[in-house]
Amino acid sequence: PRSRGLGDVYKRQIVHLVYHTFTKPAPGYMSLNGSKITVIVGAQWGDEGKGKITDYFAGESDYVVRYHGGNNAGHTVIVNGSIFKLHLIPSGVLYDHPVSVIGNGVVIDPAALLNELQYLHNKGIQPRLNISDRAHVIMPYHKQMDDVLTNHQGVLAAGSTKRGIAPVYADKMFRHGIRMIDLTEPDILKEKLHRSYEFNHKLINAIGDQVIQEDEKSIYREYCQYGKKLAPYIKDVSLELYSAQQNGKAILFEGAQGISLDIDHGIYPYTTSSNSIAGNIATGTGVSFRDIDRIIGVTKAYISRVGIGPLPTELPLEKGNDLREKGKEYGTTTGRPRRVGWLDLVQVRQAVRVNGMTEIALTKLDILSNNGDLSVCTAYNIDGQLEQEMPASLHRFRQAEPVYHTLPGWGQLSDDMTEKGYESLPENLRNYVKFIEDQVSCPVSIISIGPERSQTIIR
Ligand code: GDP
Ligand code: IMO
Ligand code: MG
Repeated sequence: PRSRGLGDVYKRQIVHLVYHTFTKPAPGYMSLNGSKITVIVGAQWGDEGKGKITDYFAGESDYVVRYHGGNNAGHTVIVNGSIFKLHLIPSGVLYDHPVSVIGNGVVIDPAALLNELQYLHNKGIQPRLNISDRAHVIMPYHKQMDDVLTNHQGVLAAGSTKRGIAPVYADKMFRHGIRMIDLTEPDILKEKLHRSYEFNHKLINAIGDQVIQEDEKSIYREYCQYGKKLAPYIKDVSLELYSAQQNGKAILFEGAQGISLDIDHGIYPYTTSSNSIAGNIATGTGVSFRDIDRIIGVTKAYISRVGIGPLPTELPLEKGNDLREKGKEYGTTTGRPRRVGWLDLVQVRQAVRVNGMTEIALTKLDILSNNGDLSVCTAYNIDGQLEQEMPASLHRFRQAEPVYHTLPGWGQLSDDMTEKGYESLPENLRNYVKFIEDQVSCPVSIISIGPERSQTIIR
């Protein structure tokens, strides 16, 4: 079925247009003819169900855009029993209509991207794909460097997906990174690769006592080939999205990871190496944040975490195993078992504030059915002090003990509830939702009670 639920955006859009037309006629200001921008972000530790929610809204969008991260992300979408696992290509790809865009803030492993295109072709999908000419390229030595870093960092390592994410973003900041456009210009590629290769070679050798597994010449040949294959997709996507905005097209941004993995606002250093928050759409695609209409924070009804680092609401082994199996909590990218625990509203409170979330999409409520009483963390007790916000101090976060509120659980949900709507859900489930809304001051407008596109309720 075609997705529903963006209707109120149009109402808000009229207000927005009136506002810009009549109250802000700044010199040189151009009307955007009713732009419609929605951003989907993760409000926890990633894997909240962003792919499912993005797919749900993608049918009403003209563009679906990734703005940060790389193939460390794994987004699962299920439609009529068919399962799609996406890593780099935005989760709007299951519809014919929207254009898929990979913005400049994304880091691209060309081999992984070509594999993903092939995977989709095999499933009968030909994505209409645009890749930013300014996006940085993951090189083989970045993946090797991830290994070296993980060993070097010891207990401070986040448990990287080993996709080369931290090293490629570091090279971008060092300013010897390689961008997608460079793959189409062999002389520039050769010039840049030489510097980047030498630098990484010395680092890998000094820190990991290793040599780069592939020699410079063969990397050059391999990446020239990727450039030839990917050239038709590479363009200035910022310009394309700007013109789409001016023509009133609907643009949906799909975040990867989640608030606690954000390089600035997350539990550093147990984070990823990009900003996952909604504000990053501007730097990550060249589309201004001025005209965002909706920011949807996807929130799982409990938490999961793949990777290392302190996790205050983590469940003890046996209870955790039950929830992990029921929720099929295994990493989409690495297959690693995800650590699971009770919902942490200290975390979600921060996500609401920092993203400017207009609403929550609450997922996996079906997994908490038949679970008995449910605990929800509303604050931390840190060295005898009550803390309502995420601490920056690693020392304090390691000491954080969850303060729980207990709510009664609910029984089995039935398939017809998605048709019958929100009021048909058990009262205790609706009380759970209300409790979350009150605690984090943000409405829950989307409810997900199963992995299928159709198992979604809009309030
Ligand atoms: P993402 O990284 O945020 O896109 O999330 P993932 O796709 O990595 O992980 C979420 C998993 O939960 C996927 O396997 C989804 O198919 C599944 N899922 C999403 N929403 C629901 C839901 O409401 N109920 C159930 N049972 N599964 C869901
Ligand atoms: P999606 O988009 C969950 C975690 C890794 C590790 C840390 C750093 O599917 O929600 P990196 O490879 O980025 O250097 O790893 O971040 N991580 C994720 N965890 N979901 C993700 O993406 C993740 N992407 C990275 O496990 O702890
Ligand atoms: Mg995921």
